[in-house]
Amino acid sequence: MTRLKEKLALVTGASAGIGAATARALAREGAQVVLAARRQERLQALAQELGSAEVVALDVRDEAAVASALAQRRFDLVVVNAGLGRGLGPLHAGHPGEWDEMIDTNVKGLLFVLRNTVPAMIEHGAGDVVLLGSVAGRQVYPGGNVYCATKHAVRAIYEALRLDAAGKGVRFTTVDPGMVETEFSTVRFRGDEQKASEVYAGMTPLAPADVADAITWAVTRPAHVNVGEIVLWPTDQASTRDVKRDRE
Ligand SMILES: NC(=O)c1ccc[n+]([C@@H]2O[C@H](COP(=O)([O-])OP(=O)(O)OC[C@H]3O[C@@H](n4cnc5c(N)ncnc54)[C@H](OP(=O)(O)O)[C@@H]3O)[C@@H](O)[C@H]2O)c1
Repeated sequence: MTRLKEKLALVTGASAGIGAATARALAREGAQVVLAARRQERLQALAQELGSAEVVALDVRDEAAVASALAQRRFDLVVVNAGLGRGLGPLHAGHPGEWDEMIDTNVKGLLFVLRNTVPAMIEHGAGDVVLLGSVAGRQVYPGGNVYCATKHAVRAIYEALRLDAAGKGVRFTTVDPGMVETEFSTVRFRGDEQKASEVYAGMTPLAPADVADAITWAVTRPAHVNVGEIVLWPTDQASTRDVKRDRE
């Protein structure tokens, strides 16, 4: 398929999980993909796999670095995906350093990317912006506290973008998945693979490719259609608090 032929697409957090799967899916549709994340060697390997992708080593928390990498360019499609969770303990016993990490990446990093890419799209009168929200931006769960707060913020930012950029030809979409099996839980539990694998035990989570598929569908609709919000659950997950495990 070549529905995104001649489109320039930026994917943040392209070195793993949903971002890497999305980069693959967009490239399959003919897009020229720019891969951004901190782990450059991972991005290089993916670029090699894709053939002609560009690599941008970038920490989205660094406002000056984001501006210098992105502000002078015009993308047709921006997938603001870089994000993370840290810890799963009660709020009253939380670690401010972890709060900083989540807020700086998931909220401020997302804002820095938007601030340095959306103006060129508005000036051009077209473009797609896809935010990776989460069902955690719709429901809170025990121990999710600050991570959930950052994803509620993403949802508010999505709604704000739609209002502030209305009538400019740019489409904004938030894609909000439930449990997806990626490196997310390994990062959340700081490399504890045992704890990470327990998250998905006895149930079938979404795969990163499922989310990439939803994103691809949203950005390949006719120009007058703005999908807006996609909520994507694993069949085994009824809410952020209810997961059916070891089904007969
Ligand atoms: N997995 C889930 O169940 C799930 C559900 C709903 C929503 N989400 C959201 O989906 C997005 C992707 O997560 P994932 O599940 O694919 O996790 P993942 O496999 O851990 O991938 C996270 C990506 O974000 C990048 N990243 C993290 N901090 C960054 C920073 N400061 N600067 C640049 N890139 C950074 C990582 O790259 P580097 O480490 O190389 O920088 C990596 O490529 C996140 O926003 C997450 O909140 C995930």
